[in-house]
Formats: sequence, structure tokens, C-alpha cells
Amino acid sequence: MKTIGIIGSGNIATLIFKIAKDIKNKLYVYDVNQNNIEKFCKKFHNKKIIRCNSIEQIIKFSDIVLESASITAVDEIFEYIRSYKNKVYIFLSIGGVLKNFSLYKDLIKKGYKICIPSGAIAGCDALSAVRFTKIKSIQLKTIKPLKTLITAPYFKQNKNLYNKVLKQKQTIVFHGNVYDAVKNFPQNINVAATLAVVSNNPDKVKVTIIADKDLKNNIHEVTVVSSAGKIFTRTENIPSEDNPKTSYLAALSALSVLHQFV
Ligand SMILES: NC(=O)c1ccc[n+]([C@@H]2O[C@H](COP(=O)([O-])OP(=O)(O)OC[C@H]3O[C@@H](n4cnc5c(N)ncnc54)[C@H](O)[C@@H]3O)[C@@H](O)[C@H]2O)c1
Repeated sequence: MKTIGIIGSGNIATLIFKIAKDIKNKLYVYDVNQNNIEKFCKKFHNKKIIRCNSIEQIIKFSDIVLESASITAVDEIFEYIRSYKNKVYIFLSIGGVLKNFSLYKDLIKKGYKICIPSGAIAGCDALSAVRFTKIKSIQLKTIKPLKTLITAPYFKQNKNLYNKVLKQKQTIVFHGNVYDAVKNFPQNINVAATLAVVSNNPDKVKVTIIADKDLKNNIHEVTVVSSAGKIFTRTENIPSEDNPKTSYLAALSALSVLHQFV
């Protein structure tokens, strides 16, 4: 049976394994935060879990590596990845993949198995297909509950905007390219990075983020115009119970990818 290595045992990893009752594989776990490993092991005490001391140990011992940590963890994984080709890598911090995009493309060309779950959006299969044709534009409009955005570093630098969003129902808080979206909303906008990586056209991705004071769901509208036609998808995501920043669908999509390999 294949072994699964988990890097980052926080909210999304916990959510994935809460749903994945049927996954009986041996798990290796590493997290920089010992308390979070403790919590994870306690929660899944009925699973075979072995703790590791580093990202490299996880990669070494596991057949499938699931990154559910942070952009810096992705940077570190990419430092080791060349030495461990015959593994499956599933990334969730897609901003980190975008940061290492040249290396990612090179590894994919060389046959490394690196998977990007569709996360909280639909239509990634079609987007992946149109990368073989001419893509004119990729637009993402994300509407999120204000409380899930307000902790982003962006608001600390824009005090006026902070005051404005508290006063009105809906506010456009960001409009720009995918690189700035990821930089300013590192934990909120994996969807934008996913569009960039899957389309193989980061420069075509334009992002609009709207904060809504009353909204309960995370809404993503994606419009792709290419020489194959126009694709429009809209997902209205139920936030996960434990972490409103994460859509339930994002965890399900990671699990769906994991299931292809276990
Ligand atoms: N692609 C998607 O659809 C999607 C959905 C949800 C979350 N995410 C991403 O997944 C990541 C985790 O999200 P979360 O909600 O579980 O966050 P979280 O803060 O609840 O958990 C992250 C865990 O990773 C650990 N960690 C951080 N950096 C690390 C490193 N360098 N090495 C080892 N452990 C490290 C933290 O200590 C923490 O326990 C984030 O980058 C988030 O943006 C992606």
C-alpha cells in the first residue's frame, strides 16, 4: 500500500482526512508547529501515523507527498524534488508553485508527477485543454465574506480601504495581475494561482477581489476567452466548518486527486 506524506497538518489537512475515512494508508506527517502535529495525531489516533522531523524526510519516506502548509514549504519542497522523481506531489499552496513556475514546468517536461487540484473552482479540465491553443484572457472575479479577507496583509498597508470596507456592503478590494493578488492575499487566492498554473499563462490572468459584508459563501467566477471559444464557470462554495477561509470543495478536490494514486 502506498504511503502518504503530509507537509502541514493544519486546517485543510485535517479537513481532508476527516472526509477521507476510507484512506487506510500509512501517513507520515511533518509540521513546523509541534502543537498542530499533536492535534492532528490525536484527532486521527486510529490511523497509522509516523511523525517526521523535516520536509526532506517526508519526501524520502512517502510515495505521495501532500503539501498543505505554505508558500515557504513549497519553496523547500522544490529544493529537494529533483532528487526524488518517482513520487507523486500534490500541492495546495499554489502561490508557491507559481513562484517556482519555471522549475515546475521543467520538472513536468521531465516526467515528474506534480498535481494541482482544481480547488474551489470548476472547469480546470477545459482550462488545461485550451493551453494548447491561443488564450486571449483569463478573468477571475472572487466575492468573499469580508471577515475571511480582512486579516490579509493587504489591509494593513491600506488603512483607508480597511475603513471603507467596514462601511459598505460590497467593496472591490483588489484588481490586478495574479502575481500581486498572490502577494497581497497569500492565503485567500489560491484560485488565481491555480488558473495561472493550469492555463500555463500566468500573464493572462486578471483578478478582481470583492469583499462582501453579508455574504456567507465564497463565490468564484472564471471567464476564459480563447480561440476555442468562451468558458464561463461560477462556483458558490460552502465554507468548511472549521475554517471559513477554506471552501469545502477545495478539500474535496484535493481528496479526489489523492484517490487517483492511493
Ligand atoms: N488550493 C486550495 O484550494 C487551497 C485550499 C485551502 C488552503 N490552501 C492552502 O493550503 C495551505 C494550508 O492552509 P490551511 O488552511 O491548512 O492553513 P493552516 O495555517 O491551518 O495550516 C498550515 C500548517 O502548515 C504548517 N506550516 C507552515 N509552513 C510550514 C513549513 N514551511 N513546513 C512545515 N509546516 C509548515 C503550519 O504550522 C500549520 O500547521 C495554505 O497555503 C493555503 O493557502 C489551498
